Amino acid sequence: MTPAVMAPLTALLFFSSLPFLSLPRVSSQLNKNITLGTSLLSSSSNDSYRVSPSGEFAFGFYSIDRDQFLIGIWFAAISEKTLVWSANRDQPVQDGSIIQFTLDGKLGFTDSHGQQSWIYNGTDAATSASILDTGSFVLLNSRSSIVWQSFDHPTDTLLPGQSISEGTNLASSRLERDYRTGRYLLGFQTDGNLVLYQKYRQNLVPNVAYYASGTDGANSPLTFVFNRTGNLYLINSTNQIISTISSNIVNPVEDYYQRATLDFDGFFRQYSLLKNPNNGESWTRVSTIPGDKDACSVPGICGLNGYCVLNQDEKVECRCPHESFSFIDPNYTYAGCKNDFSIGCDAYSELDYSFSRLDNIDWPYGDYERLDSDMDVEKCMEACKADCWCDAAIYRTQKCWKKRMPLTDGREDGTLGGTALIKIRERSPAKKEEKEGKNLFVVGGFLISASAFLFLLTMVVIAYSVRRRRAFIRIPTTIENVETNLIPFKYSQLQAATDGFKERLGNGSFGSVYKGVIELGDLLEIAVKRLDKIVERGEKEFRTELSVIGRTHHKNLVRLVGFCDEGNQRLIVYEFMSNGSLADFLFGSIRPTWGERTRLAFGIARGIMYLHDECESPIIHCDIKPQNILLDRTYTPKIADFGLAKLLQSDQTRTDTDIRGTRGYVAPEWFRNVPISAKVDVYSFGIMLLEIVCCKRRMDLSQGLDKQVILSDWVYDCFYEGMVHELVEGDEEALDDVNQVERLVKVGLWCIQQDPSVRPSMKAVVQMIEGTIEVGVPPSSSSIWS
Ligand SMILES: *[C@@H]1O[C@H](CO)[C@@H](O)[C@H](O)[C@H]1NC(C)=O
Ligand SMILES: *[C@@H]1O[C@H](CO)[C@@H](O)[C@H](O)[C@H]1NC(C)=O
Ligand SMILES: *[C@@H]1O[C@H](CO)[C@@H](O)[C@H](O)[C@H]1NC(C)=O
Ligand SMILES: *[C@@H]1O[C@H](CO)[C@@H](O)[C@H](O)[C@H]1NC(C)=O
Ligand SMILES: *[C@@H]1O[C@H](CO)[C@@H](O)[C@H](O)[C@H]1NC(C)=O
Ligand SMILES: *[C@@H]1O[C@H](CO)[C@@H](O)[C@H](O)[C@H]1NC(C)=O
Repeated sequence: MTPAVMAPLTALLFFSSLPFLSLPRVSSQLNKNITLGTSLLSSSSNDSYRVSPSGEFAFGFYSIDRDQFLIGIWFAAISEKTLVWSANRDQPVQDGSIIQFTLDGKLGFTDSHGQQSWIYNGTDAATSASILDTGSFVLLNSRSSIVWQSFDHPTDTLLPGQSISEGTNLASSRLERDYRTGRYLLGFQTDGNLVLYQKYRQNLVPNVAYYASGTDGANSPLTFVFNRTGNLYLINSTNQIISTISSNIVNPVEDYYQRATLDFDGFFRQYSLLKNPNNGESWTRVSTIPGDKDACSVPGICGLNGYCVLNQDEKVECRCPHESFSFIDPNYTYAGCKNDFSIGCDAYSELDYSFSRLDNIDWPYGDYERLDSDMDVEKCMEACKADCWCDAAIYRTQKCWKKRMPLTDGREDGTLGGTALIKIRERSPAKKEEKEGKNLFVVGGFLISASAFLFLLTMVVIAYSVRRRRAFIRIPTTIENVETNLIPFKYSQLQAATDGFKERLGNGSFGSVYKGVIELGDLLEIAVKRLDKIVERGEKEFRTELSVIGRTHHKNLVRLVGFCDEGNQRLIVYEFMSNGSLADFLFGSIRPTWGERTRLAFGIARGIMYLHDECESPIIHCDIKPQNILLDRTYTPKIADFGLAKLLQSDQTRTDTDIRGTRGYVAPEWFRNVPISAKVDVYSFGIMLLEIVCCKRRMDLSQGLDKQVILSDWVYDCFYEGMVHELVEGDEEALDDVNQVERLVKVGLWCIQQDPSVRPSMKAVVQMIEGTIEVGVPPSSSSIWS
């Protein structure tokens, strides 16, 4: 660029105050370089892109669907206009969008609604832009040095001549012609290792790379090179080849187009295609990485609960375990399957379930218990049926692995000869199908006005002569170590108070909860939990709940009124909470305000801190989840349902073979043979805190996009990409308080660290939430190892 040309340019730059000065200048010369002030308008005409001098590559609007365009680069001289790069793969633009190279040297685009995005907006102003014959789109500054090039920002494809440095990733597409970001990554890690792994599974199973170059630990930074003759290798800073990834086999090389793409199915493949304008053929595979794996062995290929079968072409076919499962997205079977029936321990009855048997199918991960003495397939089935936590079992070589959903990495596997047993709900008893969120039981203690219920009172008094005096007595000795003033009720009293167990509020662990009114000096609304007789654990839970909750008193814990222990009847009486559960509140039709949500987070954290630190002997709740947080009349959160809680002697931790808690909120150490500590509640609180912040469920299988299915993974990505605001999109109040959003997200991410010792104590959590101590950046838990 000569000084004479520079002068007017500088003047233009100086005077261009508008970021996008749209000059609708169209050029008939497709290979003309793009000069400052040029705009390309999306349309089906030729002018919506520019081609490289040889005509082999094009840059511009790439039509993906009727009226849908990506801003991208593609092979222009072949019939299959293969896309190799895109600036907006997840947000296609419509007709009427404009790519602009602004007068002040930035490159960006404006969609048809006027929304602007930048491709390059650095301070070093670009003065020219062109699509090169290598397939790179390059921006040069006035000194002719590159300020930006598409080769440095690959999407899913590398081209000959392209090399990437450590810290750069390729991300697969969702499907062959669905260019949205998919679930597989080729990560060129900063330790020099080149790895393939699946994103979005951090909280399900350890995330292990399914391919690794094994080049970590080199002394100098490495570069991943796709050289012009089509060889893929890693070099160090003195240009020595450290590892060869794949070698070119096409000859002569200049007769072929080549590319290396991370395909949607998780394989990184090198392709070639003979350069011949009349060639209607498509790309041929040159090499595949990893080369020693079949398509079903790529982690997560068939999503959650699905399983993978290879068809005749050795291609993936995803199936659901049974007809009472359906594909999460019928148009994208890779997303996995959801069960169309309810599962879990709420009002569990063995009679409602049967098994679907799948021979030679395996879900290798996520078992919580292994039974290996004297097993056969029938016993394995019975063991799973008797256990309300068990959603499926794998029987193989006289062993039985009990598993919970979601199941991961399912595949056909004839060599091991295993059998998958999937628990299916046969019957849906009339009132059992209330949704999880309706778990209303103890809700907001408050005394209702006597006059309003005078009639009812009269009825109750007349019919059942409820004692009016409040009776204080000691709990029977069968309940260990409890001195309290709980009221022992007669079964008939509670039957009367609930009008014959008429109004069911929902399910707690091992029993149903009914609403009632009782007269204890004043009229008190109560919630009565009746434990199911059929569940053996019920008895244990009854004792636990009374002994645990009986000794607590905190404004964020639900209050126990009394109990009934008569014959084979076991009932627990709580104060009634009028505003339902946190689950209803968070995931209901009206989104609670940000202020309400932060207040709830504070209250719940304080309640758990009380259990851990301020009780006589620490209590681990073991089942912290939104269904177990109830809201009283003033929306004060109260922790409820202590049926699974553990009392620990001070400084004591125990390992217990029973897994407690609810799928998804359960800390990973339950699945390992390590001691259980109060940190399991910290973990569950962390998951719930993220739900409170985002107003989204921890897992939402109805989300078509992989990245939002597991909330913690999505939060994790948004946080590390500096996009925390995306989590509270549309929530003005939260967006105005984005620092607090970020603080809570950081606290949440600290709480869900895999290693319990890294998680903060509940006391520290409370201080972090209140802002009395700083919250550091949580350690990245997704480091990939091979
Ligand atoms: C476009 O720009 C490139 C790189 O600056 C240059 O080599 C080429 O000659 C230019 N082509 C035209 C047609 O101006
Ligand atoms: C684009 O240009 C080519 C060659 O110049 C021409 O054959 C074709 O008809 C044009 N297409 C459109 C949609 O204008
Ligand atoms: C550059 O673009 C990015 C992404 O669109 C945006 O976040 C950033 O604020 C922009 N910077 C400037 C200086 O405009
Ligand atoms: C690059 O690798 C070669 C061969 O392994 C080695 O001799 C050389 O020291 C390495 N260079 C650096 C900067 O580490
Ligand atoms: C590409 O790499 C291969 C293998 O190292 C080498 O033989 C070839 O000369 C290289 N090609 C170029 C253009 O550097
Ligand atoms: C599946 O694709 C069809 C046709 O493209 C569309 O009408 C339908 O809404 C899609 N279904 C889902 C669940 O996305």
